[in-house]
Amino acid sequence: MSMADKAAVTTIKLVEMKQKGIKITALTAYDTPSARLLNEAGVDVVLVGDSVGMVKLGYESTIPVTMDEMLHHVKAAKRGNSRALLVADMPYLSYELDVKETLRNAGRLMKEGGAHAVKLEGGIETAPMIKELLKINIPVMGHLGLTPQAVNRLGGYKVQGRKPQEAEHMLTEAKILEGAGAFAVVLECVPPTLAREITRKLSIPTIGIGAGSHCDGQILVLDDMLGLSDGPELKFVKRYADLRRAALAAVAAYAREVRDGSFPAAEHEFADRINTLR
Ligand code: KIV
Repeated sequence: MSMADKAAVTTIKLVEMKQKGIKITALTAYDTPSARLLNEAGVDVVLVGDSVGMVKLGYESTIPVTMDEMLHHVKAAKRGNSRALLVADMPYLSYELDVKETLRNAGRLMKEGGAHAVKLEGGIETAPMIKELLKINIPVMGHLGLTPQAVNRLGGYKVQGRKPQEAEHMLTEAKILEGAGAFAVVLECVPPTLAREITRKLSIPTIGIGAGSHCDGQILVLDDMLGLSDGPELKFVKRYADLRRAALAAVAAYAREVRDGSFPAAEHEFADRINTLR
């Protein structure tokens, strides 16, 4: 990373990156060490996604995730964040019902959580909220395609925008989000041709997940790309490591050594007069 790249990432910088053809890197993080890791590796956007519900909290979908749970994780990620733009997901029912409630919830993610921006799922229906959030200086990232909070209406986790009318509708929605003032849009599980068209027609960046290589940036769930997740392998995820297997082997070795008495060994014991822990 050059000196110039060490400057904090802003929403404006992301738009400039699109203009210059520089790809945007984004990953999720839900705690301090992960956010620190992403910053050290120079990732541009750290998203505290409501995927935390499935990845860390054992829920079957993102729907049960509460504002308090999101805030807890946003605060933790904030403590590990230095350069990246920290974006917090607004959980299901925290932004759909009432303008004042939406502003208060988003405001908490910014003021108490330390996020730089929030992300909302949905199209046309979110445009009025995006405008209201901008009035109180809260930047918004949109999210189209497979929006997991809508899994029950969508009938499962499926690729979106395959039919020509659906594709046309998604393009219209993307333009509406841009018009409402969103600074970027996540495109999740969308055919690459549609993602390319949306990317070409918008002046704000598209961040793809399962949306092919033409988006202005890419995002993955950190635990998926590190091979820490134990769920089924998803087509759009590339596993850059196999940490679950390594962790399982380490924990099994520890249990074995405790049982057979080979851990702790002499080098792990405090000899006379040694008080320091290292
Ligand atoms: O919740 C999340 O992690 C997300 C990303 C996968 C885009 O919304």
